[in-house]
Amino acid sequence: MTARRQPPALDIDALLRDEETRIVVTCGSGGVGKTTTAAAMALRAAEAGRHTVVLTIDPARRLAQSMGLTELDNTPRPVKGVEGELFAMMLDMKRTFDDVVSAHSTPDRAEQIFANPFYQALSSSFAGTQEYMAMEKLSQLAESDEWDLIVVDTPPSRSALDFLDAPQRLGRFLDGRMIRMLVAPAKAGGRASIKLVTVGLTVFSKVLSKILGGDLLQDVSSFVAALETMFGGFRQRAEQTYQLLKAPGTAFVVVAAPEPDALREASYFVERLSRDDMPLAGLVVNRLHRAVPGLTARRAEAAADALTEKADSDLALAEAALRVHLETALNADQDARMARRFAAAHPDVATVAVPALPADVHDLDGLRRISELLANG
Ligand SMILES: Nc1ncnc2c1ncn2[C@@H]1O[C@H](COP(=O)(O)OP(=O)(O)OP(=O)(O)O)[C@@H](O)[C@H]1O
Ligand SMILES: [Mg+2]
Repeated sequence: MTARRQPPALDIDALLRDEETRIVVTCGSGGVGKTTTAAAMALRAAEAGRHTVVLTIDPARRLAQSMGLTELDNTPRPVKGVEGELFAMMLDMKRTFDDVVSAHSTPDRAEQIFANPFYQALSSSFAGTQEYMAMEKLSQLAESDEWDLIVVDTPPSRSALDFLDAPQRLGRFLDGRMIRMLVAPAKAGGRASIKLVTVGLTVFSKVLSKILGGDLLQDVSSFVAALETMFGGFRQRAEQTYQLLKAPGTAFVVVAAPEPDALREASYFVERLSRDDMPLAGLVVNRLHRAVPGLTARRAEAAADALTEKADSDLALAEAALRVHLETALNADQDARMARRFAAAHPDVATVAVPALPADVHDLDGLRRISELLANG
């Protein structure tokens, strides 16, 4: 067998202890372990002596509780039971949005906006709002200059790329040009070049009015009018926060499960980061199955089959144990194959594999265990 080149190892401790590292962002597709990895890295950094905050997004309830988080309140809380300074918080998307509005408008204007039903829908449920607000919160934490290290979790989007794309998409949307044309096509029709578009939009907005009701369009238009006078455009702000992700001191840790979909997403993400000159620290292949070494799947199967043929009840337990081992060994082989395929496609991406623990991670001990596995591979 030809020797395969191993991918370089991701040295999590070197990353977390480096004083130059100021922001670490975990990304990846849904359910792969972003929140767990973010919390485990933050814990490790704090226990190594760095004043650390972790911004979690929709953490599982028990995990949140174990970090002393009981409500969404946008405030970093000290985590008890940590030897060091670890603070944790959960993103409150709506409140973050409200704060942005308050910070950039007069109290009267802000009230007007808060009361607007379109704003209420947008700030609590619009696709992309969570991503946008995560970035907004990140830039606030970074501006405060209070933290040695900020670890940021990303929202449970279907696609990891949403985290990078949604804020700008939302920024563009809120920038108003599109909405303005939609709600006031007559005004937008001044230039010949956009006439055609305008005609299309008039029809479109009529259809929209029918579906959504004229009230909503009225809400949108007054919302945008209020926003316009408020500050230099959401788009600009989104771009500003985007720049923070490119700044020296920021590192992305991509998390993936050893499954085709998750690794494909990780691939897209890695390529995108490199295209955008964003610093990738490496890949965590999380929840990898590992079998006890020494007994291959094939041999375990042969041995179990041999015991089945003997049909001896005294050997039933041994046979069952062999079959359990067989299952694990097959999973482990499959996971290793997946990881190798990724490594072949991205030979320069530093990687660490974290085995699947027997149970979910919902307390500090579990996080510490994950952090050791992250650090030691
Ligand atoms: N190495 C591991 N071993 C065992 N369980 C794990 C491991 N990593 C994560 N988990 C568990 O997997 C579940 C999903 O993890 P987590 O919430 O961190 O994923 P996520 O990527 O943040 O998900 P979402 O996309 O929904 O935000 C949790 O119950 C967590 O405890
Ligand atoms: Mg999560």
